[in-house]
Amino acid sequence: MTPADPWNEDLLWQAHRGMELGRAHCTCEGRYHWSYGILRAAGVTSSLRMEEAMLASLMSPLIGDHARVMIGGSADPGLLCVVGRFSAARRPQITIVDRCRAPLALIEEFTASRTLDCRTLQADLLAFEGRGPWDNILLHYTADFVVAGSRLRFFNSLAASLAPGGTLVCVSMSGPKVPPERKRDLKSALRDYTLNGLRQSPLAAQEQDPEFARMLDDYTEACALRRLNYPATNELRDLLGQAAFRIMTEHVTPRRRRFFEIDPTTEPDTSSIIIATRD
Ligand SMILES: C[S@@+](CC[C@H](N)C(=O)[O-])C[C@H]1O[C@@H](n2cnc3c(N)ncnc32)[C@H](O)[C@@H]1O
Repeated sequence: MTPADPWNEDLLWQAHRGMELGRAHCTCEGRYHWSYGILRAAGVTSSLRMEEAMLASLMSPLIGDHARVMIGGSADPGLLCVVGRFSAARRPQITIVDRCRAPLALIEEFTASRTLDCRTLQADLLAFEGRGPWDNILLHYTADFVVAGSRLRFFNSLAASLAPGGTLVCVSMSGPKVPPERKRDLKSALRDYTLNGLRQSPLAAQEQDPEFARMLDDYTEACALRRLNYPATNELRDLLGQAAFRIMTEHVTPRRRRFFEIDPTTEPDTSSIIIATRD
């Protein structure tokens, strides 16, 4: 039976099914898609919920009737539902791209159960030239998954996939460099934060899974490496410029320090939403 609001997610179902599909298909660093749904349903990962209103207000005016929209990297149906909620009346043609089969399989099951129209495409955004064109591209922290030396290639590849005059909405983190010798502290703080959040949630029993300890270790190791890899504030802007994007607006939000600080005097990390276009 289709739920009354097809864009309403069932986070507990997604957590369990996401884990099954992750086990079957995901070989990403940190086995990212094994645990993403569990951590989201437990409230440990909460950025999408906190950012939805801002994202909708910025992105909604950019989507025209029947726009070709690409979501570049999506760990579960969350981004599709955010975009669907604010743009469904304009009947966008949405394509979700991810290099991992696991989230795409979850999204396909989700859309089939609600008869939502959405295409999935398994592909690496680093080698994507010639696909598209898309009128709108949304990246939600996907650039954080790209190592520093490949970021220009990543944005060049996306510029080639965006229709002239189209818009790129790029949500990403930046922050002061964490000295590599602090990685162990960062990982341990992240581990405590994740475990505490899980223990206080309806998914606390997951800790009994025989693979849980290793999964948590892999997850926190990969997260810590991603944090070491955050670009400095100006870096993303420079890279987008080099890839021939023209920045239209930027909204920067300092992040509350949740579990780790380099030292009390360093600036907090920031999350920025950059909207850019190309000629
Ligand atoms: C940060 S996650 C997305 C999380 C996001 N907050 C969400 O709600 O889905 C980034 C996604 O991008 C995918 N990804 C990372 N690098 C990629 C690449 N080069 N090509 C395609 N997908 C990529 C990952 O597999 C992951 O599912």
